[in-house]
Amino acid sequence: MSKTSTSIADLRKSYERAELSEDASQADPLKQFEQWLNEAISSEVPEPNAMTLATVGADLRPSTRVVLIKGLDERGIVWYTNYDSRKGRELAGNPFAALQFHWVELERVVRIEGVVEKVSDEESDAYFHSRPLDSRIGAWASPQSEVIGGRAVLVANAARYGAQFMLQPPRPPHWGGYRLKPEQWQFWQGRKSRLHDRLRYRQDDTGLWVRERLAP
Ligand SMILES: Cc1cc2nc3c(=O)[nH]c(=O)nc-3n(C[C@H](O)[C@H](O)[C@H](O)COP(=O)(O)O)c2cc1C
Repeated sequence: MSKTSTSIADLRKSYERAELSEDASQADPLKQFEQWLNEAISSEVPEPNAMTLATVGADLRPSTRVVLIKGLDERGIVWYTNYDSRKGRELAGNPFAALQFHWVELERVVRIEGVVEKVSDEESDAYFHSRPLDSRIGAWASPQSEVIGGRAVLVANAARYGAQFMLQPPRPPHWGGYRLKPEQWQFWQGRKSRLHDRLRYRQDDTGLWVRERLAP
């Protein structure tokens, strides 16, 4: 084994910051999530709003990437992207996805699984027009997930669309939001000696959330 891989195998950390119990957790997973997200924001962890999004392609192979959460309510969790991107194409073929937040400093992970749909055009328009101008031009300039000949392509596209739309770029038809409606949530809190706390919420037949502890 090389020196580097030996030292990777020796990396270990004891998780001792907090605990997550059945009694102290919220009955509603959305409330539990809002509490943890707010704690991540107030603790000033880096990019508390970054989440990993997993989708599955027509070849049944999963893929992941990081996106930013932009909305959250009882309807689900929202992010924005290019509908023609790899993730967009995969969601068009298979609308099931998984999200994961990892707040390293808090020793916390949240996993969310569910079905995904596009948000309304009005919702995408409202968010698009709240973005800084360079981000709005960027949505036009980047044929996300396509092979391009070099960075110069992006710079030239940005200049072209900037000149075309000036200060008022419309929302590109290929750009907008998705909303994942959670069917299952998992909250993981690191604990000592690898005896971590894991609570899963799933809906029963009547739509009520059932909280269960999973072995870590
Ligand atoms: C912190 C962070 C936040 C990101 N947020 C977004 C986002 O909100 N939307 C998006 O389309 N890409 C975002 N990206 C870029 C994606 O991770 C990814 O490169 C891109 O969406 C293309 O993914 P795909 O080819 O699998 O569709 C972000 C990347 C990072 C590192």
